[in-house]
Amino acid sequence: MDPLRRRTLLKVIVLGDSGVGKTSLMNQYVYKKFSQQYKATIGADFVTKELQIDDKLVTLQVWDTAGQERFHSLGAAFYRGADCCVLVYDVNVGKTFESLSNWREEFLKQADPADPEAFPFVLLGNKIDVDGGHSRVVSEKRANEWCASRGNIPYFETSAKEDYNVDEAFFCVAQAALASE
Ligand code: GTP
Ligand code: MG
Repeated sequence: MDPLRRRTLLKVIVLGDSGVGKTSLMNQYVYKKFSQQYKATIGADFVTKELQIDDKLVTLQVWDTAGQERFHSLGAAFYRGADCCVLVYDVNVGKTFESLSNWREEFLKQADPADPEAFPFVLLGNKIDVDGGHSRVVSEKRANEWCASRGNIPYFETSAKEDYNVDEAFFCVAQAALASE
């Protein structure tokens, strides 16, 4: 059998407040590149990455979205068919953590999965490199509690800048997406 025919396409949506590092995480993951410069994402765009999970070849299609309010125009059609949703916040900015519940609920409302309780999310607490961790305002414990009370969402602390935990996080995303597919 043609191995391409067995390749599974997994759709992943990345959500979170503006500036938390969604685009940077994806650029680090797929292109191994990081830029200090902030360029707001407008609308949505995707990147793909091929990877192997056990003996299965999968294509991870990761959709980057705009955190800025004025660019929120994606809607239900866009979210539907997602196999996993990645939520990102900045460990140094409290309100980006406070927003997580909204992002999660909005996603579930729009995507309308068959079993919302079982839908796989993965949480990333990004920018842990800033100030050597001295400027963080959200503790790992608080993030873990948030995850535990929502059906044990996997949690990763990441740095897109230092390429810390990025591969590990997205591998978990791919596994979660594959399991729900
Ligand atoms: P929107 O597109 O507006 O939703 O923002 P975003 O979530 O895509 O954020 P983006 O990736 O554009 O990053 C915002 C800023 O944070 C940029 O200046 C990045 O260089 C910086 N940044 C992203 N990740 C990290 C990180 O892990 N550490 C540090 N120090 N800076 C980061
Ligand atoms: Mg962006």
